[in-house]
Amino acid sequence: MMTPPSQPTASPTADAVEWERKPANIDANLPDYDAAYKSFDWKDVECFFDWSSTGKVNIVHEAIDRHTKGMKRDKIALYYTDYAGRDEKYTFEDLKIQTSRFAGVLKRAGVKKGDRVGTFLPRTPELYIAILGIHRVGAIPVPLFEAFMEQAVEDRLGNSEAKVCVTSPALKGRIPKPKLPALKTLILVGQIEGLADDEMSYELEMSEALDWVEPEWLTLDDGLIIHYTSGSTGKSKGALHRQYAMVGHYQTAKWALDLREEDIYWCTADPGWVTGTSYGIYGPWTLGVTSVVIGGRFDPDRWFETIQRYKVSMWYSAPTAYRMLMSAGEVIPKKYDLGSLRHICSVGEPLNPEALKWIKKITGHAPHETWWMTETGMQLICNYRSKDFPIGCTGKPFPGTSATVVDDQGKEVLPGTLGHLVVKPGWPAMMKEIWNNKAKYDEYFRIPGWYLSGDTAYKDAQGYIWYQGRADDVIKTAGERVGPFEVESALVAHPAVAEAGVIGKPDAVRGAIIKAFIALRKGYQPSDQLKKEIADFVKTHMAAHAAPREITFVDKVPKTRSGKIMRRVLRAWDQGLPVGDISTMED
Ligand code: WT7
Repeated sequence: MMTPPSQPTASPTADAVEWERKPANIDANLPDYDAAYKSFDWKDVECFFDWSSTGKVNIVHEAIDRHTKGMKRDKIALYYTDYAGRDEKYTFEDLKIQTSRFAGVLKRAGVKKGDRVGTFLPRTPELYIAILGIHRVGAIPVPLFEAFMEQAVEDRLGNSEAKVCVTSPALKGRIPKPKLPALKTLILVGQIEGLADDEMSYELEMSEALDWVEPEWLTLDDGLIIHYTSGSTGKSKGALHRQYAMVGHYQTAKWALDLREEDIYWCTADPGWVTGTSYGIYGPWTLGVTSVVIGGRFDPDRWFETIQRYKVSMWYSAPTAYRMLMSAGEVIPKKYDLGSLRHICSVGEPLNPEALKWIKKITGHAPHETWWMTETGMQLICNYRSKDFPIGCTGKPFPGTSATVVDDQGKEVLPGTLGHLVVKPGWPAMMKEIWNNKAKYDEYFRIPGWYLSGDTAYKDAQGYIWYQGRADDVIKTAGERVGPFEVESALVAHPAVAEAGVIGKPDAVRGAIIKAFIALRKGYQPSDQLKKEIADFVKTHMAAHAAPREITFVDKVPKTRSGKIMRRVLRAWDQGLPVGDISTMED
């Protein structure tokens, strides 16, 4: 475990001085953080859900169906464009019908309550309809990011034992069916002809399905969704959440995202990652708020155009995106009217003051940090619209939760002292389990009384928490979480690679890039061509975002005598720093 140094690595005061104080936004949904922190109780939120009076639980009822019984029936739930011909809108009533139809399709495919169903699709309305349709039959969605290649797909569908996967003709080739015995059926969006025996056409089946399928009624403790995420050791692991998580999504979307009835909300995250479901589906739609989704690749012009075109008022994105927009220059945002914006939030990695100030300059609004993890299911440490905050800080714990900084024994450390960022268990969206892996789940709770995030941080005298980095070897690249072990496993599958060690190398735009140290097998000569071949190999087997952007050939990868890769030594090599104590290193 980490031994925290006694001094903080950064001083909050330097940057805070030039931070312009903001007016008290007392019109915020959370007007007085301190008062709420003292008195708020999660039980008070339950009355906003129909299940609190009926006892019948299903997220699709709370996010979609119940709105169709009142004023919101014909309200736009989803605006979609891919800037390449598709330009659509769906009301809550439309989504009720579409997700009912899809529930019928799933029933025909034999899907039952509790079954896992993969979604492997580009960001299109069908992806949202599929996820909600899966909820309607009481099954558990396992969203896969569309950039995943065969190995990543096999790991996730294999571990979750998904029975059905909803995918497209372009992506289905990356699903190794023979290696996935539990996978019985593929539902193909966009393929009507040439179907194999184990394939169904989304379009054909939808056209014959019924417009209303009653949700399968569940309990608050039943499964909601599994998101796979990476740790520093082993393959990706599935964080299973429970239906009760919706209480957390709803309230954080109300108080941290500050969402209201009239908002046009744009969450830029893909539902392949937790932000794209917790805050791309559950938070906004349990509140009945209009959401914007855009397909296609990242493009600065399209992004600012989206804000103008839909009059986006609340924008939730990530530091890498803000930095990429910044590096594209000020000419682009100046072409568009961004006046509809009233609040912006950020997630995934720390937002550097420079990017924060740039976004504030071009929009008039500073992005507010929200800190959380796949495992936490919901935002936990945030800056709030009504509350001033020193620039660069991560924020304060959400009302009803308790987060702090402790030493190895779980004792709170003094202000300004670096330690483990921990959360008191029991918040509504805390993961229920790591799928099929009790030992991994228990590792999060190895400091008694706390959920151990794996992040390091310190608290200042005012109680603000300042994120300082990961305590483990997990890499955050462009906001995405990559486990070094997974990349190393992909690398050693290449015939030229004898050994590989992977680290995150600090990068101004992406936060970190993936760097690999590789020892070659006998008979292979180092060359730039070989570097490219090896990087492409990871791209085609795992995912583009997991491929090393930098490769250094070494004679030997440093390991302990028990065979563990010493990534600390690799980091020192990379930065040209002394390697420190290497007494545990093998000869
Ligand atoms: C890790 C979790 C949950 C949404 C997306 C990320 C880092 C997350 C912040 C923030 C600094 C942050 C942490 C955390 N992280 N938000 N506001 N400031 N770091 O989910 O992929 O599970 O990654 O992302 O290191 O442990 P994830």
